[in-house]
Amino acid sequence: MKLVFATNNTNKIKEVQALVPKHIELLSLADIGCTEDIPETAPTLSGNAKQKANYVKEKYGYDCFADDTGLEIEALQGAPGVYSARYAGASKDPDANMNKVLHELGDTPNRNAQFKTVIALILDGNTHVFTGICKGTITTARQGIEGFGYDPIFTPEGYSKTFAELTLSKKNEISHRGKAVALCIDFLTR
Ligand code: IMP
Repeated sequence: MKLVFATNNTNKIKEVQALVPKHIELLSLADIGCTEDIPETAPTLSGNAKQKANYVKEKYGYDCFADDTGLEIEALQGAPGVYSARYAGASKDPDANMNKVLHELGDTPNRNAQFKTVIALILDGNTHVFTGICKGTITTARQGIEGFGYDPIFTPEGYSKTFAELTLSKKNEISHRGKAVALCIDFLTR
């Protein structure tokens, strides 16, 4: 089975590729010749995931899935949430985004946060939605160089290291995206 993962983020492709069973051939947007920036203008994670998956289905004809992820911080009333990519501006700069989070939180003792991933899968004309959550806390400074995005400032619950200090396979085992992808794969293989 060929399935398109509607993302241009090579880190996400790497993460998901490691989770997909051999009989599912994962194609990236580059593999199908889609190089444009797909619009993400919905006010919710599931709205954006559906928007991206629909775009690929309508324009390229492939069954596909798309994800949208947000970092929800308790002391910031759930921000940056659906605006995580552009939190510090249109350039989507991860360093600027992390600086803004650390600045906004200051020395607030409540560092509770969660990553949420919503996957929209379009298969045979139907849309299916899967959600994965990883709870944790925001550090006071960056730690680690692995991963991407907000990984250096997020410590998952039960761990003393940030996502950026964990291996890809450990992150996949416990992460928001890993959980959402596992639900999607369960559905595809049952
Ligand atoms: P999107 O799902 O690509 O729209 O991601 C929204 C924002 O969250 C971007 O700034 C990403 O870098 C960030 N992000 C998405 N997934 C992760 C993750 O697994 N770890 C850290 N940051 C992430």
